[in-house]
Amino acid sequence: MGEPEPAEGALPDDISEVLITEQEIEARVAEMGAQITADYTGRRPLVVGVLKGVYMFMADLVRAIEIPVSVDFIGITRYDPSAGSGGAVRFVKDVKTSIQGRHVIFVEDIIDTGFSLNYVINSLETRRPASLKLCVLFDKPRTRVFDLEVAYTGFELPDKHVVGYGLDYEGQYRHLPFVGVLKDEAITRRRLPPGAQTPG
Ligand code: IMP
Ligand code: MG
Repeated sequence: MGEPEPAEGALPDDISEVLITEQEIEARVAEMGAQITADYTGRRPLVVGVLKGVYMFMADLVRAIEIPVSVDFIGITRYDPSAGSGGAVRFVKDVKTSIQGRHVIFVEDIIDTGFSLNYVINSLETRRPASLKLCVLFDKPRTRVFDLEVAYTGFELPDKHVVGYGLDYEGQYRHLPFVGVLKDEAITRRRLPPGAQTPG
């Protein structure tokens, strides 16, 4: 009858440490939803997320918002600056809803240098939304290069590569319900050759 349950406290093999538990994420997302509800009462904001990393956070966030919202997504591809292509960002999927005149809440899983978000925000602002605010679950302020105003932040993280709750390493670990740090050996084992990469 099914797989045996992992022993209490046991971690998946590749994870060295849990940084933020499922319960902590749940509590913080509820607070963020309450804050957004209070700030946007009387309006019907459009919540736009960046695929794929945001899917779990956005699903929980919109359920914690107690006013009507619409939901849409974009997809971007980023080429690694160290691979010599200048770190260009490109839309691979655009919103289906017109954002002109809308109150847009732009939702991202994690902000590191700010490079990707800076590009996307500048691009969306040219479409003249009524307002545009940024909501980020995880912030790594120590590695920020682009100065972005984030209206809603969930947690600050150290400068470590984290996985879980939508965040991946080479496409793996997004399904984990907590946020953890990968063991060094897992990073080495899965490292792909340098070149084009798809964040999100
Ligand atoms: P930025 O453009 O440097 O701010 O990078 C942001 C993107 O890189 C995020 O949307 C994520 O897709 C990815 N990213 C940054 N840090 C992490 C991490 O620790 N784990 C997983 N993905 C990350
Ligand atoms: Mg992302």
